[in-house]
Amino acid sequence: MTVPFLNPGAQFQPLRAQTLAAIEEVLTRGHFVLGPNVAALESEIAQLVGVPFGVGVNSGSDALTLALRALDIGPGDEVITSPFTYIAPAESVHQVGARIVFADVDPKTFCLDVHEVEKRITARTKAIIPVHLFGQAAPMGELMGLSASLGLPIVEDCAQAIGATFQGKAVGGLGKIGCFSFYPTKNLGAYGDGGMCVTADPAVAHRLRMLRVHGIERRYHHDLHGYNSRLDELQAAILRVKLPHLAAWNERRAEIAQRYSSALAEFPLSLPQVAQGNSHSYHVYAVLMEDRDALQKHLADHGVATLIYYPVPLHLQKCYADQSWTAGDYPVAEMLARRILPLPMYPELTDEQVDYVIAQVRGYFNK
Ligand SMILES: Cc1ncc(COP(=O)(O)O)c(C=O)c1O
Repeated sequence: MTVPFLNPGAQFQPLRAQTLAAIEEVLTRGHFVLGPNVAALESEIAQLVGVPFGVGVNSGSDALTLALRALDIGPGDEVITSPFTYIAPAESVHQVGARIVFADVDPKTFCLDVHEVEKRITARTKAIIPVHLFGQAAPMGELMGLSASLGLPIVEDCAQAIGATFQGKAVGGLGKIGCFSFYPTKNLGAYGDGGMCVTADPAVAHRLRMLRVHGIERRYHHDLHGYNSRLDELQAAILRVKLPHLAAWNERRAEIAQRYSSALAEFPLSLPQVAQGNSHSYHVYAVLMEDRDALQKHLADHGVATLIYYPVPLHLQKCYADQSWTAGDYPVAEMLARRILPLPMYPELTDEQVDYVIAQVRGYFNK
């Protein structure tokens, strides 16, 4: 048996008829940019999150950049975010001309450590971007406390966490702006790029809508330095076919996580831990172990594909060589990069495939 690490094409066949009909409808109507499907998806995602406004943009990365621009963050400002994640949040800070300030993460949840955040707040800090990594909410209670007491907006990076909750509330609606990605492998994945900002603030929503279309309110009148960053109408139509299945897909992910966790508990692995008050959307199921590379090779030799998220913490990436960060600055992020091993995780995995992955892990430890 072989088990692919991801299988983003697997959702097409079961939804083939509806997906093709939705595509055909868009092509027939001929309204290709900011059409009715984008508007409808914006309402549907906003409703899912529990806020009034959704603004579709062309990726999760752009959602973060436009969010910072909507908050008027730029040169001279500092934004605190995680060094152990995909690069997009750090990149968005760089793109608006602000300074990236990393704060180390918690070794259990891999999300921002609030004490580390507190230590790095200065008079120039203008926002915090917590990443709900792998599908688990960052410590939003404490972060929102900080946000309220210091007047610091929170931009939630929800790219990996659509459908996850913190104390019963959906991620994305907790901070000032929530940013989602519809990259094909995400829990709600398009057949191309896509993203969305959500917010409860009408002025922020208005600015986001201007920013995504070259800073205009009125055609050919550019009031802001803008972007061309719109969610594609075809992708919105496809996402609307998929959205009603998201809850069931996330439940299946949780079931697989449960199956992994109960079977793997006997081995010297550190398993995912869910912080109190969180529901996890299991975008990624990752274990930690000292000799990660040996287990990864054993699994590959037995047909189980894995992929390391993230092999190099952000402060040690080549593109930041001109910054002052060095090895040892963020020890937890560096430890995670050495030890982490994500296992295959997507709702279409069969129980047989999950059991096969488990059997191969068992084979490694019992060999
Ligand atoms: C945590 C995180 N933030 C942001 C992004 C950026 O999303 P996109 O690929 O849609 O630009 C991703 C993933 O790709 C991500 O995993």
